[in-house]
Amino acid sequence: MSESRTTATTKTAIAVLSQKGGTGKTTAVRTLADTFRRAGVSTLAVDLDPQGNLSDYFDLPPDVQPTIADVLSGRASAAEAIHDDLIPANLSLAEAELMLGGKMGREMTLRRALAQVPEGSYELILIDCPPSLGLLTVNALVAADRALVTAEAQYFALQGVEQAMEVIELARDSLNPNLQLLGVLLNLADMRTVHSREALASLRERFGEQVFDTAIRSSIAYAESAERAVSILDHRPDLGADYLTLAGEALARLPGFEDARRRVAGLG
Ligand SMILES: Nc1ncnc2c1ncn2[C@@H]1O[C@H](COP(=O)(O)OP(=O)(O)OP(=O)(O)O)[C@@H](O)[C@H]1O
Ligand SMILES: [Mg+2]
Repeated sequence: MSESRTTATTKTAIAVLSQKGGTGKTTAVRTLADTFRRAGVSTLAVDLDPQGNLSDYFDLPPDVQPTIADVLSGRASAAEAIHDDLIPANLSLAEAELMLGGKMGREMTLRRALAQVPEGSYELILIDCPPSLGLLTVNALVAADRALVTAEAQYFALQGVEQAMEVIELARDSLNPNLQLLGVLLNLADMRTVHSREALASLRERFGEQVFDTAIRSSIAYAESAERAVSILDHRPDLGADYLTLAGEALARLPGFEDARRRVAGLG
């Protein structure tokens, strides 16, 4: 990555990751991107999961080209692969990941590609990682300024977050010394259950202030919202309020986003 990334408000990239599947990463990327955009923050979403769930949320033709697989394989530039502020993914990313494994600088590929996105075109980049801590997630962490770790409010939440933290530290110690934790998000939480309360308590005990005050409540409305392709912010504003608070907290942790944070507060 070029040194131009030191200006706080240009291209701050956030990798959203978890060791486990189904912790609400994609929903978080989708809804945060939605919230930031409504607050006037230009936001690029990057689908880095061969499942392509994030891409499914956006209204693009299913065979849209080029995708992130083409970018990682060197067949297209990142700028060419942006469609409606999204770099999409599909199953061809699985093949691209295998190819990448045999290459020099394989962990740096996404970082180099995103560095080519013209300065000033986006203030934030949100990267949706696959449910593993493999090469794609490492690419996201090497390309990112911040990492947002999601945890499902379940019994093994703490272990999963600790494993994600180890990979973040690895990326920081080897290839991306500027990488910082943005925060730990407790997702799919039902505070009426002992499990959710214990998961939050153990995360707080271990990671303190780094755990976001906002926990995203669990609701079947998220599945409905995905099915109908309607943002939770519109489908169930009462629940979407969780994401508005989370977005405000996230922006408060980033330098240069004070105005944006105020605009997010005004969305509620
Ligand atoms: N707060 C929530 N409450 C209930 N269900 C949710 C919530 N957030 C997301 N979901 C649902 O949980 C499922 C998993 O969410 P999502 O796809 O965002 O997780 P993920 O971490 O990206 O999964 P994967 O690891 O497979 O990529 C989806 O069906 C989604 O609609
Ligand atoms: Mg996902």
